[in-house]
Amino acid sequence: MKKKVLITRHLLGEGMKILKQKYDIVNNPESFPFSRGVLLKEINNCHGLLCVGDKIDKEIIDNGKALQVISQAAVGVDNIDIDYCTTKRIPVGNTPGVLVTATANIGILHILNGMRGFTKGNFDIRKGQANSSDPCYTLGRDLEGKNLVIIGFGNIGKEVAIRATVFGFNLFACSPDFTEDIRINDTVVKAISFDEGIKIADVLSLHLPLTKSSRNLINKDIFRRMKKNAVLVNLARGAIVNTEDLYSALVNHEIGFASLDVLDPEPIPVDHPLLSLDNVFLTPHMGSSTVETRIKMADLAVRNLMNGLEGIPLETSVNQNLF
Ligand code: GLV
Repeated sequence: MKKKVLITRHLLGEGMKILKQKYDIVNNPESFPFSRGVLLKEINNCHGLLCVGDKIDKEIIDNGKALQVISQAAVGVDNIDIDYCTTKRIPVGNTPGVLVTATANIGILHILNGMRGFTKGNFDIRKGQANSSDPCYTLGRDLEGKNLVIIGFGNIGKEVAIRATVFGFNLFACSPDFTEDIRINDTVVKAISFDEGIKIADVLSLHLPLTKSSRNLINKDIFRRMKKNAVLVNLARGAIVNTEDLYSALVNHEIGFASLDVLDPEPIPVDHPLLSLDNVFLTPHMGSSTVETRIKMADLAVRNLMNGLEGIPLETSVNQNLF
């Protein structure tokens, strides 16, 4: 009898064809996530789960009585109870590496946008209020000599730093395992503490995973200690930043600008007050959203899923110690 696989999203690339040949597939025909009720029911006798961002907690895992592997087509796995999966000896795959370039590129877009005031210009053009004949209109800031502080210096943070060397930023990074300065393209990236980093940042760029300790890390206390014209960039997870505190900080000019690819909540309601501000630029969690990258992510997730179903180590997993 064929094993059964639950796929919670539309899959790009050839993965679906391959999976259909080998397994019985239940997949979500919609572009929206399964409701919790449907997920609870469908996982019931599945051996494999391929998901993206769905909340996979104890109850879902326990309902998946036959579950042998969970493969997520994303690098972040904060939506999955990893500890519980590990106790149940269920390997969990993710997709690091293949999305680094696309995500770092969009990081630079957010950094440049934050420093150059495109958002207000874009708002103004639509309202017929752009006034480029005024030399003082929507003035941004040069990047040379400004402090870019990267919080979370993993693969994506490092690629952002590499790109940022071109612009003449002073580069700083803060990460538990980054303790000694390094040189990238003739620019020194200085290791800095979190407390020092938030104080000196002209741009504070977040590239760390969402964990118990990073949840709500950037809150009103932090905003008060940042430069008044600082730009906050978040490409990591929305819940690392307290959204209400961010809104107040932007309205009260405790910081200058926020350029965000991730939000809490996601999707953000259209009547959320944050959306009325012209010192905020938002993209809807698009870090890895290029055709090529999403295909690579889907392919890797499919390979991880198949490995798990065959009982061999996943190419990339967050609980590799299971094997
Ligand atoms: C995107 O946010 C990812 O975790 O891959």
